Amino acid sequence: MARQFFVGGNFKLNPSTKEQSFALAEGLNNAQLDPATEEVVIAPPSLYLLPLKEKLGNGVQLAAQNAYFKVSGAFTGEISPTQLVDAGIPYVILGHSERRTLFHETSEIVAQKTRVALDTSLKVILCIGETLEQREAGKTAEVNEAQLKAAVAVLKEEDWSKIVVAYEPVWAIGTGKVATSAQAQETHAEIRSYLSKAVSPAVAAATRIIYGGSVTSANSKELSTQPDVDGFLVGGASLKPEFVNIINAKK
Ligand code: G3H
Repeated sequence: MARQFFVGGNFKLNPSTKEQSFALAEGLNNAQLDPATEEVVIAPPSLYLLPLKEKLGNGVQLAAQNAYFKVSGAFTGEISPTQLVDAGIPYVILGHSERRTLFHETSEIVAQKTRVALDTSLKVILCIGETLEQREAGKTAEVNEAQLKAAVAVLKEEDWSKIVVAYEPVWAIGTGKVATSAQAQETHAEIRSYLSKAVSPAVAAATRIIYGGSVTSANSKELSTQPDVDGFLVGGASLKPEFVNIINAKK
């Protein structure tokens, strides 16, 4: 079965006001989108999830940018997966490189969060990716596999239908230095081949592997032609009108 194209917009800690986030939702509500061909999910800051839920239409869904591996208790400042489910938020982004680097989340912590998120019925956008140093040392596949391996260890085969893998090379995030379509294709194919060995050929064939890192309207079309690139996780450009062109890149 063909994999449905998936485009996520990760707003990170932007924009600065609720009204600006409403304007972004309005732009998507008025855009020419086709939920039957592409799945679109935006991840605003957690404070804006509920107000945006009231505003968003056009088949666009919401994701939290993070969630904790405990559902309740004395964990000041954390976001509960069950509270996200209760709020009607279907997705969560886990393992983003900014969480791994700035907030010291190990692959084991990310795996634990993934397990709990799935147990509470959230769907997960699971981010992996290598640094420039690791790529230059020829360790891209090894790093991606190690990050995935921790998740593979705690997931059952059926869990993978609720996971979108986001390959985001750290050197491409927010730098304007996008991976070439050949680099993206090669790495996505390696990730798929790892899933085939580590989980099953069926899971490898069905799992969407999306690319993130300096995706723009200008480069998204060519990247989307690659057979193993099933969509994008977009940061900076998701805050601009060009996000709609990225969503429609495959048309
Ligand atoms: O989650 C999104 C990625 O970090 C990509 O960010 O498109 O600004 O490079 P970017």
